[in-house]
Amino acid sequence: MKVTAVLGSPIRNGNSEKMVNLFLSGFSGDDISIFNINELNCKGCQACDECQKSDSIECTLHDELQPVLNRLAISDLIVLASPMYMDQVTAQMRIFQDRLNVFLRKDFSSKLKDTPTVLIFSQAIEDMDNYKDYFKTLKKVYKKFNMNVIDTIILADAGSHNELQNDLVIQDRLKNWRTNYATYYS
Ligand SMILES: Cc1cc2nc3c(=O)[nH]c(=O)nc-3n(C[C@H](O)[C@H](O)[C@H](O)COP(=O)(O)O)c2cc1C
Repeated sequence: MKVTAVLGSPIRNGNSEKMVNLFLSGFSGDDISIFNINELNCKGCQACDECQKSDSIECTLHDELQPVLNRLAISDLIVLASPMYMDQVTAQMRIFQDRLNVFLRKDFSSKLKDTPTVLIFSQAIEDMDNYKDYFKTLKKVYKKFNMNVIDTIILADAGSHNELQNDLVIQDRLKNWRTNYATYYS
């Protein structure tokens, strides 16, 4: 099974990356790819609309985001992780999101197959429900591309980069995610 994780934090080994690593620990033996958007030389969508003229997923920017797009197209499970910055995902994650445009046809159908997707967030704000509406909106955005969000995992009260160790519930949820979703992935 091909699992693909996309990291949106500029911090290496911070909360959101640690969350992804714990999540992926349940997938040893699978084909895993991890992309860190902050380390890629890539730009936001230039709105050239060339991608809407064919079924190609080759973006005219031909930059380091292309391998991420290619990999998403063959993935069985997608994991998208970002800290919250200014009440949104990071600028790095926004670049990634806009570039998903390559998967949209002119009639707004998606070139991607239905792909289960898990969202992972870390935030300073203590209230886990603080961004509930925003996360719901993101779920709708990803649905346009056939990325079907089946779970959203939030580390709250995490104002720096090393708070995952304080949250045993979230640690447990991440570690055992695959087992708990066994019906999807048997
Ligand atoms: C520029 C900036 C903006 C931030 N804005 C928010 C915010 O709006 N809401 C929030 O809950 N946390 C905010 N934070 C805190 C981060 O989301 C939090 O520290 C997160 O756990 C960092 O994850 P990381 O270690 O994976 O980078 C912000 C941090 C930075 C650096």
